[in-house]
Amino acid sequence: MRSVIAICLLLPWEFVQSVEPELGTADWAISVSCTGCHGTFGESVSSIPSINGMNEAEFIRKLFEYKQGKRPASVMDRIARGFNSRDFELMSIFFARQKKGPR
Ligand code: HEC
Repeated sequence: MRSVIAICLLLPWEFVQSVEPELGTADWAISVSCTGCHGTFGESVSSIPSINGMNEAEFIRKLFEYKQGKRPASVMDRIARGFNSRDFELMSIFFARQKKGPR
């Protein structure tokens, strides 16, 4: 027991605060609403762009541009306004991990 406490005390605070422990649940849970339009795992079968395998920084930048009304949009401006930067980060990790092409 004492050693467990010692290990916890040795972990840097940044690590404790990182989003890693949430991955696999929170990133999926928040991203699933996007798949209705962007396709399962972000692979679109319509004229809506695919968002799977997208670079995380590019993904977050585009969502901020939609949120701020700086990027032309039909719906994404309104959708992006409903989320914060932590949400964008979780979504970017989820979709960056999804491979392009047939499964
Ligand atoms: C109602 C359908 C719909 C939903 C739901 C939706 N999107 Fe979109 N998304 C679009 C459309 C349509 C575009 C093209 C821009 C536009 O017309 O608004 C787009 C564009 C994007 C782009 C830019 C793609 C590119 O390469 O230019 C990203 C990134 C994106 N959406 C992320 C998301 C995320 C993350 C969610 C979930 C929070 C989401 N979208 C939910 C319809 C949707």
